[in-house]
Amino acid sequence: MKLIAYCLTAAMTIATITTASAAAAAAKPKGEPFGKTADGTPVEVFTLTNAKGIKLRAMTYGAIVLSLETPDRNGKSADIVLGYRTLADYIKSTPYFGAIVGRYGNRIAQGKFKVDGKQHSLATNNTPGGMPCALHGGLKGFDKVVWQGEGVTQAGAQGVRFRYVSKDGEEGYPGTLALTVTYWLSDNNEWRVDYLATTDKATPINVTQHSYFNLKGEGNGDILGHELTFKASKFTPVNAGLIPTGELRPVKGTPFDFTSKHAIGERVNSVDEQMKFGGGYDHNWVLDNQTGSLALAATVYEPTTGRTMEVLTTEPGLQFYCGNFLDGKLTGKSGRPYEFRNGFCLETQHYPDSPNQPSFPTTILRPGQTLKSTTVFRFGAN
Ligand code: BGC
Repeated sequence: MKLIAYCLTAAMTIATITTASAAAAAAKPKGEPFGKTADGTPVEVFTLTNAKGIKLRAMTYGAIVLSLETPDRNGKSADIVLGYRTLADYIKSTPYFGAIVGRYGNRIAQGKFKVDGKQHSLATNNTPGGMPCALHGGLKGFDKVVWQGEGVTQAGAQGVRFRYVSKDGEEGYPGTLALTVTYWLSDNNEWRVDYLATTDKATPINVTQHSYFNLKGEGNGDILGHELTFKASKFTPVNAGLIPTGELRPVKGTPFDFTSKHAIGERVNSVDEQMKFGGGYDHNWVLDNQTGSLALAATVYEPTTGRTMEVLTTEPGLQFYCGNFLDGKLTGKSGRPYEFRNGFCLETQHYPDSPNQPSFPTTILRPGQTLKSTTVFRFGAN
């Protein structure tokens, strides 16, 4: 009798545990209040977790990733993306920490382009080398608008789906653009970013994720010891205004060669005209994979913590920016200033200024077409 009772209790415990974990896997992340913008629009934060201890928080303002905690080789977690604690901090001033940038990520020369012969003008919000250009979508790009957020799930992954409709003429871009960006966090340690967009008029589009990484943990100093490998044998050199010259230049024999592993700091201070223009690495690499299917683009290894990150993408380009404009004036979420080169971005994208560069892969989306793009950040430690 006792044995039967014991077996029954054990079976019930197992049943309870099974039901509980099945419920956890199916639970859709819920939006929690995260403050309001100046005009009173509520902003929500969504928290995604996985079975291996990774946690990603993202908010509806700018679809910004607020934090991303991953374990190091000893299982110790740290937040590996730069950012702030409050919405007010993001609204005040941010170099695009964690945001989705667009409608056109990176630069368009002089803020001007033509589509089907018609001239369009954008605000020029950036002047590297004294040369005005439009950067990351304009004065109020996708990083500064409130998106609609919805928790989603699928087998082995939790997600948040962000939607934004950019009106015809917004920031000078033609056509109403409907954009969906979904962040998935899976139990196999992948943060997957899926982009979907349609338009009612032909428009350039180049959306990307602008997280600043420091695999030592944000606020833990510079990123110079991170070791990188890129699947890219060419890059797009720029002029003093950081606009591509149109050339696809082989990286071989230059400090831009990451076809084998190199630390960021190893050659970043080389005497090199391109390095001078960027103030360090701030360039677009031409990925070897130009097929549009998902392929490995970059691997990152941080030797002190053992953290690794692989970047896979369907995009043809990768902007590697090593935080050359960080200067200690911004204080991060843990109360420490972000100094020169304390974070780096790996922005999967089409090439900068493509609307003015007919030889680059096109960035024009037309009515009836659907833009589909995917990037995966895969984390590990060894
Ligand atoms: C660009 C940098 C720019 C930075 C803004 C990067 O994507 O490549 O030139 O300064 O964004 O924070």
